[in-house]
Amino acid sequence: MTVLILTNEEDVTADMVVLRLGEAGVPVVRLDPADLTTGVALSGEYVQGACSGHLSVGGRLVTMSGLRSVWVRRPGEAATRAAQPSAWLTQEASQALYGMLRITDARWMNHPDAARRARHKPWQLHLAQRSTLAVPATLITTFPQAAREFAERFPDLVVKPVSGAHPQEPPRAVPTSRVAPDTDFSAVAFGPTLLQRRIGKRADIRLTVVGDTLLAARKPADPDADPDDVDVRFAPSVSPWLAVDVPRRVADGVRRYMRGAELAYGAFDFAEDADGIWWFLECNQSGQFGFVEMDTGQPIAATIATWLAGDGDPDGRCAQGGRGAAS
Ligand SMILES: Nc1ncnc2c1ncn2[C@@H]1O[C@H](COP(=O)(O)OP(=O)(O)O)[C@@H](O)[C@H]1O
Ligand SMILES: [Mg+2]
Repeated sequence: MTVLILTNEEDVTADMVVLRLGEAGVPVVRLDPADLTTGVALSGEYVQGACSGHLSVGGRLVTMSGLRSVWVRRPGEAATRAAQPSAWLTQEASQALYGMLRITDARWMNHPDAARRARHKPWQLHLAQRSTLAVPATLITTFPQAAREFAERFPDLVVKPVSGAHPQEPPRAVPTSRVAPDTDFSAVAFGPTLLQRRIGKRADIRLTVVGDTLLAARKPADPDADPDDVDVRFAPSVSPWLAVDVPRRVADGVRRYMRGAELAYGAFDFAEDADGIWWFLECNQSGQFGFVEMDTGQPIAATIATWLAGDGDPDGRCAQGGRGAAS
C-alpha cells in the first residue's frame, strides 16, 4: 500500500517525511497536481457498478485502490504547468484528480472538505470556544460604529487579516499589529476587519497535532520587547523554540477541536499570558513544522510518517510521542 503526497517540488519539509517513510520501507509517491498532464497522468473507469483508476507519475504506475493515505501538503494548482494551461484545464484536472482520490479508502491528512472549512478564522474561533479553549474577545466587522464600541470595551486591541493571507503575495503574511488608542475606524466600512483583545504575551506557543499526538513548543517573549511588536514572525528572535508540556485542560480542548474539525493534522498558535493561560489564536490545518522540529528536536516528521503509514491505526489514533500532554 502506497502513501501519496501531494505537494510542490520545492517543499523541503515534505522531504523530511519522505525520508522517514523510506527508512520504514513504506512505498511513497509524491506528485504535484500542477504537473498534470505533463509529468502526471491519470485514468479512472466506472463501468457496470465497478470503478478502478490509476495515476502515473514520472512513468511509475499507482492504482487508486492501492493507496494507503493521501497527505495534502502544499500542492500546486492542477495543470498549471501543462503545455497549454488555462483556468478551464485547471478546473477539469482538479475535478478529475481529487474526484478520483475521494473514492478511494485512503485516509487523508487532511480531507479537502475538512481543510477548506478549517481555514475560516470565524469558524475556528467558534469551534475553539466550543472546545473550551480560552479565546480572546474578537470582533469581525464592517461597521465602523461596532469597531468603535468594541475598542471602548477592550481598549488594548490588535488587528489582523481575517484570512491570514497577504493580498499581493500569498506566501507572505501580514503582521498582526497593535491598534493605536486614537484610531479612526471609519475605513472598517471598506473591508471586514478583525479586531482582537491583545494578550500581554509571556510566550508564543506552537502546538502541532498529528492524529492524537500533541507536540508543543514555546518561545519566550523578549522582556524588553516593544509592546507594539505583537507578531512573533516579525520580531527579532531572542530564544529558540523549546519543547514544553501541554497543560491537561488545553490538551483536552485541542482534542475536542481536532475531532470537531475532523482534522488529522493541525498547527495551533497560542499566546501564553502572565498567568500561564494559553489563549487560542488560530489553528492552521497545513501549518509549517520544520522550524519547530529543527529547534526542539521533536519527532514531528516521524510522527506524520507513522500516521501516514497507518500502522494498525484506522481511526487516526497515534501513540503519544515525545513530550505530550502533562498529567
Ligand atoms: N490577540 C493577540 N494578542 C497578542 N499577540 C497576538 C494576538 N493575535 C496574534 N498575535 C501575534 O501575532 C502573530 C500572528 O497571529 P495569528 O493569530 O497566528 O495570525 P496569522 O493568521 O497572521 O498567522 C503571532 O505571533 C501572535 O502571537
Ligand atoms: Mg499564525
